[in-house]
Amino acid sequence: MSTDDTIDTETESNCGASTTETETESKCGASTTETETESKCGASTSTTSDSPSSSCGGGSTEKQVESTVNDFDADPGRLVAIGLGPGQPEGMTQRARGALLDAEHIVGYTTYVDLLPDEVTESADELYDTPMCGEVSRTEEAIDRALAGNDVAIIGSGDPNVYALAGLALEILESKGATASMVDFEVVPGVPAAQSCGARLGAPLVNDTVSISLSDHLTSMPTIESRLHAAAKESFTISIYNPWSRKRRENFQKCCEILLEHRDPETPVGIVHGAGREDETTEIVDLGELEDLGETDLIDMTTTIIVGNEDTYVWDDRMVTPRGYESKYDY
Ligand SMILES: C[S@@+](CC[C@H](N)C(=O)[O-])C[C@H]1O[C@@H](n2cnc3c(N)ncnc32)[C@H](O)[C@@H]1O
Repeated sequence: MSTDDTIDTETESNCGASTTETETESKCGASTTETETESKCGASTSTTSDSPSSSCGGGSTEKQVESTVNDFDADPGRLVAIGLGPGQPEGMTQRARGALLDAEHIVGYTTYVDLLPDEVTESADELYDTPMCGEVSRTEEAIDRALAGNDVAIIGSGDPNVYALAGLALEILESKGATASMVDFEVVPGVPAAQSCGARLGAPLVNDTVSISLSDHLTSMPTIESRLHAAAKESFTISIYNPWSRKRRENFQKCCEILLEHRDPETPVGIVHGAGREDETTEIVDLGELEDLGETDLIDMTTTIIVGNEDTYVWDDRMVTPRGYESKYDY
């Protein structure tokens, strides 16, 4: 999934993917050309009706992997899915930093490649980035590079297991006839947005919490609605990912309506835009005020919203969700 609602206007590579200055073309067959082509890493790529961007926003055709494990002669390298955390280098774990410095090739969404510290981009042999909606082709590119013998990092914000590419990498490896062990596949965790944003808001997440993404390009809106009803009815704290985009304003409106069906309009809601980024903004509002904020700069695809449970309150500008100790101890 992507965090951006805008289409990047990067240089197109031969593969239909944008490239950074350190690279001018894809090396491993992420391109979806009309004719059969020979990939630079020894795998032949065949015709597909999908394009790198069609997997996002509907209207996509079925994606087929282009090369299989049999197309590669080299001893495979490694594939590591790395979570960068919220954005700034200080928010990255030491383990993620080490794994990035070890990688020969780094593959990722343009916004995340741009967030990498200089020491990491300077140490990599190659950087390969694509704009939003190229998730499948980008992941396949990373896998093909690993199968061709390179040590590859595929990167994303937050954690690779939270609405991110770790699962897709395993699924594509399997569909290529490869195995995870073949590329020594590893996930290096990062701090997920809910936790980065929770930290900025105080302590809203210390009890049972449910995460829900309002992006309906992979999960249907009726399913999202039914999950929202269930979570709101049971009084979980709710972390809302992918809350608003121009194409999805109705999803956000519907979400606010559902929350208000089950929760008091004065339920505290924390909104964090761009945690760990230069434009970071944090606000705590009442649930009843949330819907109107959907049309402001505060809420977009780099925002996470945390809706308190029925016990959450605001104290000294911090959200507090009691852990429950007050029922056992006097303090
Ligand atoms: C595709 S999901 C990726 C989640 C990521 N893997 C994680 O662990 O946080 C993208 C969503 O994560 C949230 N997000 C990512 N980075 C964020 C940040 N710096 N501040 C606030 N929310 C962020 C937003 O809700 C965004 O729409």
